[in-house]
Amino acid sequence: MERVLSGIKPTGKLTLGNYIGALKHFKDFQDSAEVYIFVADLHALTLPIDPEVLRQNTRELVSFYLASGLDPEKCTIFLQSSVSAHAELNAIMQNYLYMGELSRMTQFKEKSAHMNQSAIGLGLFAYPVLMACDIVLYDAETVPVGEDQVQHVELTRDLVNRFNKRYGEVLTLPKYKVGKTGARIKSLSDPTVKMSKSDPKGDIFLTDPIPSIRKKIMGAVTDSGSEVKYDVENKPGVSNLLQIYASMKEVSIEEAERHFAGYRYGDFKREVADAVCEELEPFQNRFREILESKAYVEALKKGQKKAQEVANKTLKRVQKAVGLLDLDAE
Ligand code: TYM
Repeated sequence: MERVLSGIKPTGKLTLGNYIGALKHFKDFQDSAEVYIFVADLHALTLPIDPEVLRQNTRELVSFYLASGLDPEKCTIFLQSSVSAHAELNAIMQNYLYMGELSRMTQFKEKSAHMNQSAIGLGLFAYPVLMACDIVLYDAETVPVGEDQVQHVELTRDLVNRFNKRYGEVLTLPKYKVGKTGARIKSLSDPTVKMSKSDPKGDIFLTDPIPSIRKKIMGAVTDSGSEVKYDVENKPGVSNLLQIYASMKEVSIEEAERHFAGYRYGDFKREVADAVCEELEPFQNRFREILESKAYVEALKKGQKKAQEVANKTLKRVQKAVGLLDLDAE
């Protein structure tokens, strides 16, 4: 059966971008593939974060996973930090990715650009090594992500090819999968930049009250002209809203464009807001129930066991391949 893996960092409040680009799609795989979905909590430490905030973000993220329809009976949901094989494999794999490659990663460049250059944590720089370990530990073939993570999955492929060339077919070569619509949702206040967890303006957070989500969409920056048309270059604001609508309604961009032919911007935005709120309101209700009942604890305990089993097997395979002595076999 095909193996699918993905994860989200519990660094801040999840955005509509995370939902559309990643979270919403995870459940689509669970009936036909072996699915592993985890909380990338070790990755959350690559930038300073308050411990209690990290704990709460983690509880919330798992509750979002469950609210999105991921079923712990059908897929494995776990915390990265609860499977020590991630850190152990990381210690090995950091020798097979190079400083030159890591320094070319867009995410690293963006995140470190505004930092004091002499105080950038090693973990931020080496982030893609751990991410590659997350993927190969489960022999993942498919990694559903938004566009901003594609470069990291490509680097994982380079690592796998390099490693296998040296040691034989030890690791499985993964491929990324981005959605046809919504792989890069933009900020509502500046539709030329990505909607991200660290930008409170123009972003819709999944925990925002429904009226405020509606208000943010109604206040989204549109473009000159009056036609609702998909044209990222000249109409980035309208195009972003069309992407959001298409993803919510699960239609193509062309279908969304046809639907809004002849609409004024105001009515167009109102329907986009309706589409988002209709989907997010019941989602938020499920989320709150799960968080309050602590249903996430059982799901994580179950997932941890399964994840450890699978990951430890791969770790052993790699340890053997590189020449670490297996005392049980001596
Ligand atoms: P993270 O936590 O930054 O984002 C989680 C997922 O949301 C997608 N995403 C978006 N998609 C569309 N539009 C946006 N504006 C937008 N913003 C974020 C991201 O592409 C991602 O799919 N490194 C990863 C976490 C990770 C991981 C992994 C993912 C760690 N190990 C192994 C897959 C496999 C990250 O920081 O995602």
